[in-house]
Amino acid sequence: MKRKLLSLLLAASMLTAVLAGCGQSGNDTTGGQTGNDQQVVDNGGDDVTTPAPAADGAIKVGVAMPTKDLQRWNQDGANMKEQLEAAGYEVDLQYASNDVPTQVSQIENMINSGCKVLVIASIEGDSLGTVLEQAKENNIPVIAYDRLIMNSDAVTYYATFDNKLVGIKQGQYIEQQLGLASGAGPFNIELITGDPGDNNARFFFGGAMEVLQPYIDNGQLVVRSGQTSFDEVATANWATEAAQNRFDAIISAYYSDGTQLDAVMASNDSTAQGVTTSLENNYTGAWPIITGQDCDIVSVQNMIAGKQSMSIFKDTRTLAAKTVEMVDAILKGGEAPVNDKETYDNGTGIIPSYLCEPVFADINNYEELLIDSGYYTEDQLK
Ligand code: BGC
Repeated sequence: MKRKLLSLLLAASMLTAVLAGCGQSGNDTTGGQTGNDQQVVDNGGDDVTTPAPAADGAIKVGVAMPTKDLQRWNQDGANMKEQLEAAGYEVDLQYASNDVPTQVSQIENMINSGCKVLVIASIEGDSLGTVLEQAKENNIPVIAYDRLIMNSDAVTYYATFDNKLVGIKQGQYIEQQLGLASGAGPFNIELITGDPGDNNARFFFGGAMEVLQPYIDNGQLVVRSGQTSFDEVATANWATEAAQNRFDAIISAYYSDGTQLDAVMASNDSTAQGVTTSLENNYTGAWPIITGQDCDIVSVQNMIAGKQSMSIFKDTRTLAAKTVEMVDAILKGGEAPVNDKETYDNGTGIIPSYLCEPVFADINNYEELLIDSGYYTEDQLK
């Protein structure tokens, strides 16, 4: 009885998170809330964090995450597991160490072991076509989580943040800080983005360049390295060390003679951290503006120390809540919540998507956004 009450409370708090989180979008078309709360309140009376199969066997959901190396995926995985279990599902959560064959075999196992829905944050968007054929043959719906899975018609829905808006916000931050709209400049800028196999990276970079490219074209922004194409500024696996190495080379070739570097457009925190370390080791000029994304603990600490200017906060609790809502709707035969039916074509057609809203974070609002909301404790950021 006590456990049942706990389940109810957890389910209620999850619903509150869903309502308070992604649901702000005006054209949210939430569907599929059938009122059938059987799976939500009855997990067989077992501990909510490790539910045993209910009498008729709890429905199993496979959750495939790319890597434990980056803080955010640990949070995504933990949130998904916690929220799915609170809704009465059994969860098979796997991390693939950024290795595509590992992720493929994990997904194969999920299919063979009876998962009824797959939630996948892919390592390489283009490498899952074959294994997802099997999912389709077995009528297992697939939700692409955070990153779109490309060229597979097995993908049913996509749950993510508005990736292009992330890039636009980073670009606009640099535009505002440097006063570009009122004609200031020229300023020196360098660019760095993420993994070429991650579809998101092109959206982040594309969004930022939509804002910055006109200023590069008119000479207000100068990229001294000359590296401006996506391929030139991409970072394999979003690796911090690779970012650091590339900036070591850039600083020594273009900024070691006292030339000022005014801004670095970094698409996320793991690359921003590599840039920061490289600058600390090699650069003697005034500290540049550096953008980021994810509000990783190290990057928030860097923000507090004045070493990273901003980050984009993507509340993984909210994304997980929205994805659980999708899983629930699919399994109950309803329509999943989507608010975008035009942006994400994975090569087989548009994938109906739910885009959560990315939020700007800097030194002035991080306490409210990250500590007051319970995302981090104050101690974690020390
Ligand atoms: C995610 C970012 C993350 C990056 C590296 C992207 O697909 O959307 O939040 O920083 O991967 O893991």
